[in-house]
Amino acid sequence: MKKRAFSGIKPSGSLHLGNYLGAIRHWVADQHKYENIFCVVDQHAITVEYEPAVLRQNIRELVGLYLACGLDPEQCSLFVQSHIPEHTELAWLFSCITPMGWLGRMTQFKEKSEGLREQVSAGLFTYPALMAADILLYQTQEVPVGEDQKQHVELARDIAQRFNHLFGETFVLPEPVIRTVAARVMGLDDPTKKMSKSSASDNHGIGLLDPPALIRKKLSRATTDSQRDIVFNRERPGVYNLLSIYQALSGQSQEEIEAHFAGKGYAQLKGDLADLVVAALEPIQERYRQLTSAPEHIDQVLAQGVVRLRPLVDATMTCVRYVMGLR
Ligand code: AMP
Ligand code: TRP
Repeated sequence: MKKRAFSGIKPSGSLHLGNYLGAIRHWVADQHKYENIFCVVDQHAITVEYEPAVLRQNIRELVGLYLACGLDPEQCSLFVQSHIPEHTELAWLFSCITPMGWLGRMTQFKEKSEGLREQVSAGLFTYPALMAADILLYQTQEVPVGEDQKQHVELARDIAQRFNHLFGETFVLPEPVIRTVAARVMGLDDPTKKMSKSSASDNHGIGLLDPPALIRKKLSRATTDSQRDIVFNRERPGVYNLLSIYQALSGQSQEEIEAHFAGKGYAQLKGDLADLVVAALEPIQERYRQLTSAPEHIDQVLAQGVVRLRPLVDATMTCVRYVMGLR
């Protein structure tokens, strides 16, 4: 029996290289090993201010990119979170057994709410309960994510444990799966901040759909430092970030990469890295163009995902409603 893997991405902006290297490429590489469920978590994208028409567009773009990156709908159930309303039902039930203290400790909440104070939505605060519902609804064993999501997956595990303790064995306890290379890709403009969809700067991230010339330009402007040698050193976050991306895309060891760049300058590093990034993204962009020219295919894939998942959802929810005394 294959283990079940679940993961998701918020359709809150264009996907970037961090999403690809930290998450999607591993889902693609490992899809034959698992029973896979990948979600476009649209209800997570509305916890902060957003534009409805843009969200609608982003949802479709994200599904198209899942497919273009190589997720195979024969091996993976792909769907949009809000198409299965039990996610929010279960999230409410979880929010009733999750202490405020647990949610208040989430570093992502602390970062995102900084400076906003009373303006922050209740949804941003309870977001991890919805994420726990996403994972636990499917009795997921493994959750492949980038490093930033580890704390949320651990919280989902704590919620599962608390639920099982209160109402009897109901949920499988999930584990985060985090790869070490490029688990945290940093911003090109500021290598002390993780690459994210929400940055206002033009030179922050590389979009998966960025044209090659733009990719080259962004990399040529990436922040480095005033030293010369090109070595993996975490104390030099700019160079370290570029080298980590190089390592993830080339598959070479740190020693091989350092030897390759010995005696060379930052311009060479940025140029060679741009070649690798462009070579990795061009086929994805080509498939994306083909897929989006036939939008019915995307609708079909999504509908098929929901049909396949329905029995699993019903089994979990029938049990949950009963043990909680709702039925
Ligand atoms: P998000 O963009 O926050 O919806 O994240 C979707 C997935 O991409 C999650 O598994 C994240 O952990 C991963 N991810 C997001 N940003 C990065 C990053 N800068 N480096 C590595 N992984 C990331
Ligand atoms: N919170 C995750 C992020 O910001 C996205 C997400 C929502 C997710 N539900 C999930 C990831 C369930 C893994 C499993 O990246």
